[in-house]
Amino acid sequence: MEVSNKYIVVKHHIQDAPEECDFEIKTGALKLSVDSGSNDIIVKNLYISIDPYQINRMKSHSPSQTAINFAAPITPGQAIDALVIGKVVYSGNAKFEKDDLVMGVFSWAEYSLINEENIIKKLDPSSQFPLTYHIGVLGFNGLSAYAGFFEVCKPQKGEKVFVSAACGSVGSLVGQYAKLLGCYVVGCAGTQDKVTLLKDKLGFDDAFNYKEEKDLTSTLKRYFPNGIDIYFDNVGGEMLEAAVENMNEFGRVSVCGVISEYTDSEKRSSPNMLNVVYKRINIRGFLAADYMNVFQEFIDKTSEYLRSGRLNVIEDVSSGVESIPSAFVGLFTGNNVGKKIVKVAEEP
Ligand SMILES: NC(=O)c1ccc[n+]([C@@H]2O[C@H](COP(=O)([O-])OP(=O)(O)OC[C@H]3O[C@@H](n4cnc5c(N)ncnc54)[C@H](OP(=O)(O)O)[C@@H]3O)[C@@H](O)[C@H]2O)c1
Repeated sequence: MEVSNKYIVVKHHIQDAPEECDFEIKTGALKLSVDSGSNDIIVKNLYISIDPYQINRMKSHSPSQTAINFAAPITPGQAIDALVIGKVVYSGNAKFEKDDLVMGVFSWAEYSLINEENIIKKLDPSSQFPLTYHIGVLGFNGLSAYAGFFEVCKPQKGEKVFVSAACGSVGSLVGQYAKLLGCYVVGCAGTQDKVTLLKDKLGFDDAFNYKEEKDLTSTLKRYFPNGIDIYFDNVGGEMLEAAVENMNEFGRVSVCGVISEYTDSEKRSSPNMLNVVYKRINIRGFLAADYMNVFQEFIDKTSEYLRSGRLNVIEDVSSGVESIPSAFVGLFTGNNVGKKIVKVAEEP
């Protein structure tokens, strides 16, 4: 049997903010079987993770592209690999059977032709958690929040924590982990609705809309009159500079991402380094993949928080492979609320 398989490509390299017209939907014929002797597997994609780091793969050059396999450059016109949850529809590999649920590095597509190395894990269909959690709160986004906060910042109960892009996939979890530890937590986001959600649903002590603020240094002084102990940075740029101005002695800055700099090749954060020296501030970048040693601890603790209802999960799901370009573009305009996912097909 043969199906027509829709998949998304970039038409050309993207240097600045992405637009929907930078993408194209292509269709290819795909045989739903593999030749005898081949170990290949065909997966029907169910949920696709939409992540900001992909923009750096779409550039002609970016320092990220040589850092880790995951971030390798994307060739215009070629299928785009991403974290996906899917169902095996045909397997030439004895380790996988038809109807197995799997999570791995597949494609921005309806179907993916893959091999065993692409599969990160099989998923248990009787799991108490929704499938989508495996590409969000119980996946690399969750690990980024957990390790970037606990391992990089070494937080103490009572410390004052600031989180940017706080209503996003990673930020919303960081703020909640910090509250669960007993920290004072303020988040920023780009709309009033997100600010309300942070305070009313996610339990942040306070939150503000950074787009309505003129002077971020005084804004942070207002929210942290006694200074910031920990800044979890998702955005870079002026917010990092303002946070450093407000850090306490021996403050820690966990640099998870610098999304404001991904789409503006001119923008660079230049924090006042005298503050860094004299306040002995530790500014530390990290990749979630560095922290696989705490993966099981992260899963155990996070699963327990989820089971006991102490951690809220916010997902933002759009439907159909055609919605991938707008879903992706929306990450850079703040359209998403929580973890952005595209649902490509109904669950079995
Ligand atoms: N180090 C790692 O291993 C790792 C792993 C995962 C993610 N990350 C990074 O962590 C950050 C958050 O990722 P995520 O997946 O959780 O995405 P996300 O926060 O769910 O979505 C991106 C959010 O960033 C904000 N944003 C977009 N453009 C901005 C700009 N120019 N200035 C300020 N804020 C902007 C928007 O929210 P607003 O409404 O607040 O503007 C948007 O909703 C990204 O920088 C990402 O690359 C790093």
